[in-house]
Amino acid sequence: MPESKAFYVTTPIYYVNDAPHIGHAYTTTAGDVLARWHRQRGERVWFLTGTDEHGQKVMRTAEANGMPPQEWADRLVESAWLPVLDTIDASNDDFIRTTQERHTTRVQRFLTDLKDRGEIFEGSYEGPYCVGCEEFKLAGDLLDGEREFNGQKVCPTHGRPVETVSETNWFFRLSAYADRLLAHYEANPLAVQPPSAYNEVVSFLRSGLQDLSISRSTFDWGIPVPWDTAQVVYVWFDALLNYATAVGLDDDPGTPGAEQFAATWPADVHLVGKDILRFHAIIWPAMLMAAELPLPGQVFAHGWLLVGGEKMSKSKLTGIAPSQIVDHFGSDAFRYYFLRAISFGADGSFSWEDMSARYTSELANGLGNLASRAAAMIAKYRDGLLPAPGSYTEPELALQVLLGEVATTADDAMLRLEFSTSIAAMKSFVDAVNLYVTEQAPWVLAKDEANDERLSTVLYTICESLRAMAVLYHAVMPKATESMWEQLGAEAALGTLGSQDVTDVGRWGQLPAGVTITKGMNLFPRLEETAD
Ligand code: MSP
Repeated sequence: MPESKAFYVTTPIYYVNDAPHIGHAYTTTAGDVLARWHRQRGERVWFLTGTDEHGQKVMRTAEANGMPPQEWADRLVESAWLPVLDTIDASNDDFIRTTQERHTTRVQRFLTDLKDRGEIFEGSYEGPYCVGCEEFKLAGDLLDGEREFNGQKVCPTHGRPVETVSETNWFFRLSAYADRLLAHYEANPLAVQPPSAYNEVVSFLRSGLQDLSISRSTFDWGIPVPWDTAQVVYVWFDALLNYATAVGLDDDPGTPGAEQFAATWPADVHLVGKDILRFHAIIWPAMLMAAELPLPGQVFAHGWLLVGGEKMSKSKLTGIAPSQIVDHFGSDAFRYYFLRAISFGADGSFSWEDMSARYTSELANGLGNLASRAAAMIAKYRDGLLPAPGSYTEPELALQVLLGEVATTADDAMLRLEFSTSIAAMKSFVDAVNLYVTEQAPWVLAKDEANDERLSTVLYTICESLRAMAVLYHAVMPKATESMWEQLGAEAALGTLGSQDVTDVGRWGQLPAGVTITKGMNLFPRLEETAD
């Protein structure tokens, strides 16, 4: 029996011209949280990330470093792009590199197929080209340069002068797809999100499309065009195909590749930064339409991490390495902060002050403190064993209702990629339980044996709430929640944390009385304890 189709989420593949900064890690973190959440809904998930290694940008960087481009790419992937996945705890199922044979051969096959279908023709073109974007620009896209670039036209994203590129090469009949793409987006408004991105794509399509030059003859760092090996495939045409080549595009029926393709394609969500929206929402689906392949479910364009009001970038020397933040705050706090503090889709600024403030108030004083207080009280009043609750009263019943609501809100928001809304819902539950602890004051109840049953009810309620928090927060903060699960002694009774179904998290009373609760490590140590 064929496998059910996986929930398939992708990040862009990253240029290996430099090491990752937190802007790149931001996209991967979002993809990872989404992947983990869907796994915890019991879905089969495929989460892909990787590197984009061809093109002039990478080639020139390699040259500037005195290295052949393949060697340069190998070095960067090994020393920077793979390690950053560990740094941020990414749980990707695959990592594709565009120099891998599985990719290059499938790209060539795809291209040959498009040519056979009459979608590719020979032509010539001259126009402004930005190597930073690896894109031909329209004159109207460019800005007038200032200071050292006075008198030149510059790219609005990179702030650097464009070059004039003139080529006789191969073209893809992109212009033929404007109406079909428009019809597709009109029928599927969720196919590009958020709404600002949707509007941008639709209005761009309404202005019509030009055919796209898809090969280059002036340099050779790329995949050879199969029928004209003096040319290499345009880097974006090559790169976009990674999403399909990684899961077996065009493999012969009956092969493992074909089976994987059938069980994975189309992608459910392509996560991209807003700077690369048009490639993903226009060129990519047109390529798929031309090959008569199913279109992705959604392209979601997130905003930029800004520094001083501009996109963070290595070329502008404003890049912060993820490890700088993770070494100080830990990977969980990194993941939490960026998805909680910035509404996904909008731009956001990173500041150490804001991150420290949220770390302290929401993680250390909020969740962390609750978990350690609970363990301390169970140790002190119940010798480390979780008591059975007595009868519930109004405050407990209110918390149980709230948990149900929070679970629904968190799930709905996560499915819409509204990470900050989802996390805010989880946090509202933590706040409510913290308030409950203060109001019920178990340390006062403990002074009088007559309150024994009441004390058990309160202690059980706190620990069962922590059980739910561990399940809800697991996708966002995998490490801290694993510690919580261990402290709660939950695994023997309930199974692994990763196997807990987020859609069932609100069912009260899952943590059985009698489990041993231990005081583990502080989940979110005070910053002065970790400062260098
Ligand atoms: N190689 C192309 C993508 C090809 S996908 C078929 C590329 N690579 S990139 O390394 O320049 O950027 C990859 C992703 O990182 C993009 O989604 C981009 O938006 C994101 N970011 C790069 N800088 C960023 C910020 N300052 N903030 C948020 N995301 C940023 O484009």
